[in-house]
Amino acid sequence: NTAQIGVTGLAVMGRNLARNFARNGYTVALHNRTAARTHALVEQFGDEGDFIAAESAENFVAALERPRRLVIMVKAGDPTDAVIKEFAPLLEEGDMIIDGGNAHFADTRRREKELREQGIHFVGTGISGGEEGALNGPSIMPGGSKESYASLGPMLEKISAKAKDGAPCVTHVGPDGAGHFVKMAHNGIEYADMQLIGEAYQLLRDVAGYSPTQIADIFRTWNEGRLDSYLIDITAEVLSHVDAATGKPFVDVVLDQAEQKGTGRWTVQIALDLGVPVSGIAEAVFARSVSGHADLRESSRHLAGPTARTLGKDEAAAFADRVEQALYASKIVSYTQGFHEIAAGSEEYGWNVDLGKVAAIWRGGCIIRAAFLDRITGAYEAQPQLPSLLADKDFADEIAAAQDDWRDVVAAAVTQGVPTPGFAAALAYYDSLRAERLPAALTQGQRDYFGAHTYHRTDREGTFHTLWGGDKTEIES
Ligand code: 6PG
Repeated sequence: NTAQIGVTGLAVMGRNLARNFARNGYTVALHNRTAARTHALVEQFGDEGDFIAAESAENFVAALERPRRLVIMVKAGDPTDAVIKEFAPLLEEGDMIIDGGNAHFADTRRREKELREQGIHFVGTGISGGEEGALNGPSIMPGGSKESYASLGPMLEKISAKAKDGAPCVTHVGPDGAGHFVKMAHNGIEYADMQLIGEAYQLLRDVAGYSPTQIADIFRTWNEGRLDSYLIDITAEVLSHVDAATGKPFVDVVLDQAEQKGTGRWTVQIALDLGVPVSGIAEAVFARSVSGHADLRESSRHLAGPTARTLGKDEAAAFADRVEQALYASKIVSYTQGFHEIAAGSEEYGWNVDLGKVAAIWRGGCIIRAAFLDRITGAYEAQPQLPSLLADKDFADEIAAAQDDWRDVVAAAVTQGVPTPGFAAALAYYDSLRAERLPAALTQGQRDYFGAHTYHRTDREGTFHTLWGGDKTEIES
């Protein structure tokens, strides 16, 4: 038993993670349901480091030094439970099971509790960065016990991505399901980022009249400024790609129906449960859903729209600058909403998540890595109790500077009939927060009218009801 870590589940993510550990000098035990994959890995990449191929669960467990560190990289849901059921009886007190899949945090909480009773540490761990990240350094979001992090942390720090300042993109996020919760929120933000970029693209195409290659260049310019991020970078790559078969822009030959595996949807479902308004993230999930309703879209194509008007050359360039402002302001809002959700989850489950640290470990390796995240860390470091990112003076100032353009862009989208649910929802959220009065007062009046649901007054304490069906006197209830 000489392996410091074992990986079971050797599909591409598991395989790359195992190679990453091995390349960093760890001896890695390997296991897969079908042994052919295990042997294929050793055959292909055996010279990258020390691997111990195990054909059976027993041999795999026996290969691990104690306390054992066993990483499971299988599909979230039932397959994960099945693997836990297979291995848990073979483990001993103090051993660790690390679940690196995109598990639902509620499942992670359940598994952690069950395994804790057996003395096993269950470490639900968010891993972001796709295949490339798993191999060369992902952003890692481990939950679970402090003791497990003490044993595992140094290894994760070694294999993780490093931010520009050299800091490893991993931290102990918090107990039990905290890691998977934060990974879920990461993905929700990822959905919002992607949707906002998509809207910017569509506006540049339909309103400004730019071609995909021209838009790729615009994104490249933006990527040199405050929007500098992995997603903007790959967007330019995708947009400039030409389909070999047809010679058309790649983006024009791909079916425009976005798929999803569920983490974005969970972010919204959980936000609804926690009562957190993540409207921008929700619109991103709904936008994918709308896109997938092919029949509904087909039967709606005849619906009337405005007369389109493409801008002239100079106007187009000025419009592109405004779209950058709208994108940036909307991005601040999505992160504000995502961090609000993490704060609410942390509060609900007593996780004590350090929001500044979360932003810091997202600076490298993960899909939403961006220069911008440094600023979020800075904001929370300056004010750990910051109620919202919009309460940070620098972000507020930036939005103040962007807001005229942001409003113009949303207005142009509306008059031109280009759907921008992300930009519009972000702006509505911003305006709702700043509003002196909201029509919620009227909602309360309506609720009291039809259901005697009562209301509070602005001028004195108490709970009131108006006798709407009678003489409209107000009674205190
Ligand atoms: C990551 C990603 C990854 C996720 C994909 C696909 O952080 O590396 O978030 O975990 O699986 O991005 O997500 P959808 O299929 O839901 O778009």
